[in-house]
Amino acid sequence: MKKIDFRQMMDKNQFATNYKRMWPFIKPFWPMALLSLLICVPVGSLDAVIALFLKPYTDVVVVGKSMESPWYIPILIVGFTTVQGLLNFGGAYLNAWVGGRLTMGLKARLYEKLVAIEPSYFDTTTSGEVLFRFNSDAELACSGLLGNLKSFLTRIFSSVALIGVLFYNSWQLSILAIVILVVAVAPLTKVKKLLTSLVTRNNSCMFQLNTTYNETFSGNRTIAAYNLQDRQKSRFNSLLNDVFDLTVAMTRRTAWITPFMHFVISIGLGLAIAMGSWLIVQGTISPGNFVSFITALLMLYTPLKNITNVAVSVQQSFLAIDRVFSILERPCSLQEKQNPVSLPAVRHGITFEHVCFSYKKGVEVLHDINLDVRVGEMLALVGNSGGGKSTLVSLIPRFYDVTRGSIKVDGTDIRDFALNDLRQHIAMVFQDNFLFDGTIKENILLGNPSATDEDVKKALHNACLSEFIDSLEKGVDTYIGERGILLSGGQKQRVAIARAFLKNAPIVILDEATSALDNKSEEIVQRAIDNLMRDKTVFVIAHRLSTVKNANRIAVIHEGNLAELGTHEELMAIPGGQYRTLYNMQFKAPIHHGEAEQKAEEVA
Ligand SMILES: Nc1ncnc2c1ncn2[C@@H]1O[C@H](COP(=O)(O)OP(=O)(O)O)[C@@H](O)[C@H]1O
Ligand SMILES: [Mg+2]
Repeated sequence: MKKIDFRQMMDKNQFATNYKRMWPFIKPFWPMALLSLLICVPVGSLDAVIALFLKPYTDVVVVGKSMESPWYIPILIVGFTTVQGLLNFGGAYLNAWVGGRLTMGLKARLYEKLVAIEPSYFDTTTSGEVLFRFNSDAELACSGLLGNLKSFLTRIFSSVALIGVLFYNSWQLSILAIVILVVAVAPLTKVKKLLTSLVTRNNSCMFQLNTTYNETFSGNRTIAAYNLQDRQKSRFNSLLNDVFDLTVAMTRRTAWITPFMHFVISIGLGLAIAMGSWLIVQGTISPGNFVSFITALLMLYTPLKNITNVAVSVQQSFLAIDRVFSILERPCSLQEKQNPVSLPAVRHGITFEHVCFSYKKGVEVLHDINLDVRVGEMLALVGNSGGGKSTLVSLIPRFYDVTRGSIKVDGTDIRDFALNDLRQHIAMVFQDNFLFDGTIKENILLGNPSATDEDVKKALHNACLSEFIDSLEKGVDTYIGERGILLSGGQKQRVAIARAFLKNAPIVILDEATSALDNKSEEIVQRAIDNLMRDKTVFVIAHRLSTVKNANRIAVIHEGNLAELGTHEELMAIPGGQYRTLYNMQFKAPIHHGEAEQKAEEVA
């Protein structure tokens, strides 16, 4: 009977598919998992034993007033309850163990996917969604799979055994009872339909709430500076209101079910008592049968009610499994070659051949870029902001893949190298660098974990940080807070530069890497860069043209095109050239020096 209910709620296919998908995660400890399921058989069926024993007890002791062998019944009841209790304990333990291992495995696999995911995923996914998808969904998926399956099985066995007790006592009463029970639990099969749309909307509110918390954390300065508290509060409150409305709506849609069930059951009990009394008078059943029957019937109500509830949870976890696997099976847009070419060193240089790139289909950001940068060369990229300079350099470590054309290192397409191998040869410094929670030294060592203290010291010196470090009580072991929040912008940038120095990679990309430094330290750091980068291939993007003057060549990127390419002198010689115009604006303009600086910032 319940089986039919259950099948209505989840078609067999979905059941099989979901278990097949999860199998690799269960496989390593399948004997434990099986044991945790098998334990449901005795746990579930022992319920019925108590109901069953009430028959002889009532007939012999209560009705027959006989004290003949009454001693064994209470002892057996206590004995069985003890066994059931021990089994319950074992079941709970196994459940926690197996469930814990399963969640651990799935979360670890998801995190592995998360760290390997291509950057474009993060362009379009909010932090709240990531938290929800990679964490909450994994928990939901696992708890549904084992926990719910287990309660489901326990209840099935318990129901089957109790129904056996019903039939043992009286088949007439059993038929009546089962008809009533089916009517009573029927509405539960509609729960899923009633809830589905609400659950989806609820999830989306949860993403947004998570994201709001994250934004409040990361954007706290901006919120304070622009007095955005009220805006944040009203957005947050409106989300809370939505969640409240959804919760209330869920309750409104489903809360009538329990009272309805109680009502139907009470009718059933009334009928069973009337019919039972009649059957006793008729002599068809004994009073013991009747007591045992009613007990079994009352006991049956709970598992039966829960089976359908559990079926709903199983449904929910199946939806979560779907979402989890849509992530796990999501093809990475950055494909790695099966048999990658190894890249032991960079000997010749990097070539861009007819490189076109778009973030979104149809909106091309880079158009047919051709560039040849030799080892030992420093190429500066300049041009108006939004022109595509950062995009161009982000193609080298394959944060994104070219849409057309190719980028080659020593003549080999970068897509033919293993991703790790390629990135191992690239050091990058950005305008806004991410530092990890930890100390200065820990962050710098990320560039090269096996570096000696001497190397670290040299890198710090070259990044113009020694003086600052010496002024700190704990020196390089100073804790810098999450995202390096305890450092100034310029200090953060210099830590990132030191990290890049330590990496000592043959390809160096500096994307406005000295933008937060004052003129003096920028000059010093720039000199260190010039010295250290002599035998390397360097791409430098800088808005202060004074810092790029020494580059071997300068490329002007304008609206996604390589507009001009040449040495400082060559580009200055082009009448009305873009570089010449930019340069003159920064240095020759007859305006106050401070304003010139500001102007330069606006330009780049
Ligand atoms: N992650 C992204 N997704 C979509 N468009 C982007 C992304 N990053 C940059 N863009 C767009 O690409 C263009 C080039 O940007 P960018 O390379 O950052 O310019 P630049 O570094 O020269 O200032 C801009 O129009 C910008 O809006
Ligand atoms: Mg940029």
